Amino acid sequence: MTEQQADHQLWIEKYRPQTFAEVKGHTEITKRLQAFVEQKNIPHLLFSGPAGVGKTTLSLIIAKTLFGDNWHHNFLELNASDSRGIEVIRETVKDFARTKALGTELPKIILLDECDALTKEAQQALRRTMETYTRTARFILSANFSSKIIDPIQSRCTIFRFKPLSQEDIKNIIMNISKREGLKIDDKTIAAVSTVSKGDARRAENILQSCSAISKTITEKLVYEIVSAAHPEEMKEVLQLAVQGSFIQARDKLLDVMLKHGLSGEEIVKQIQETVWDLSITDQAKMQLIEKCGEIEFRMVEGSDEFIQLEALLASFVLAKK
Ligand SMILES: Nc1ncnc2c1ncn2[C@@H]1O[C@H](COP(=O)(O)OP(=O)(O)O)[C@@H](O)[C@H]1O
Ligand SMILES: [Mg+2]
Repeated sequence: MTEQQADHQLWIEKYRPQTFAEVKGHTEITKRLQAFVEQKNIPHLLFSGPAGVGKTTLSLIIAKTLFGDNWHHNFLELNASDSRGIEVIRETVKDFARTKALGTELPKIILLDECDALTKEAQQALRRTMETYTRTARFILSANFSSKIIDPIQSRCTIFRFKPLSQEDIKNIIMNISKREGLKIDDKTIAAVSTVSKGDARRAENILQSCSAISKTITEKLVYEIVSAAHPEEMKEVLQLAVQGSFIQARDKLLDVMLKHGLSGEEIVKQIQETVWDLSITDQAKMQLIEKCGEIEFRMVEGSDEFIQLEALLASFVLAKK
């Protein structure tokens, strides 16, 4: 890799742990997974938990440790929220699982990310696929909430519940990257990045990389600027579209903002709530919307589908004007 390419590399990839030992936190989970790999006996796995804590990373480490240099041939990563649907997933799995793994007698590994995006019917189809190829392939399913996965799949998997990383783990990740990238960052700023990341290493690394594009000296002020940069304005635009009745436009714009800044549904609701005050609607409408935000946030924490909840919230903004 040339220096310039390396320069443009995303830190979340550049600093993705390559071995079990490099993974921060999740001590018990890592130990058990490592044992599966040592015994060369991997069951179907279900990784549930929040974003950016190492679910994909550990799946890759399992494949790399099991298959060595051939890992690429024997590992398939798919996203269940792929809009082309479960049929495409099944076809892809079929093509992949049909042939023997390269350089090993072991089953291949298929990582299916975001399984909670699948409908119950699609999950039934997935379950049948898992059964059909159980001799030639092992599935690692990942989901934010295991409760959204149907019982017949859960009962076929060994379930691992990931928690957000501790502040200590996030701080260590930040310090390591800062050292390797030659950043100047003090303890208070490290604590700030750690706080706003809420246990999500991907977010911590992305914030750090965004800051470093502006200055190699990272300050607390810069961190908060990056984290909140443009959000209030962008969010205001979304909500204004909604109160003007342009629901579809508002929804598309909201999705844009979410993806661009890597925000979770809960973070979006908090930002929406803060922005309500800036809208030109009656005070009473504002109060109702604030209350609605609270309700939606509660449902998300309870594990309800984030997009459906955000759409419902936007719908109440459309209705607020009337
Ligand atoms: N436990 C961890 N230890 C060290 N780095 C981590 C850990 N979890 C996540 N990261 C960092 O965040 C990035 C994204 O993690 P990933 O495994 O893709 O998260 P997810 O749980 O959403 O699948 C990784 O490439 C790595 O840089
Ligand atoms: Mg992932």
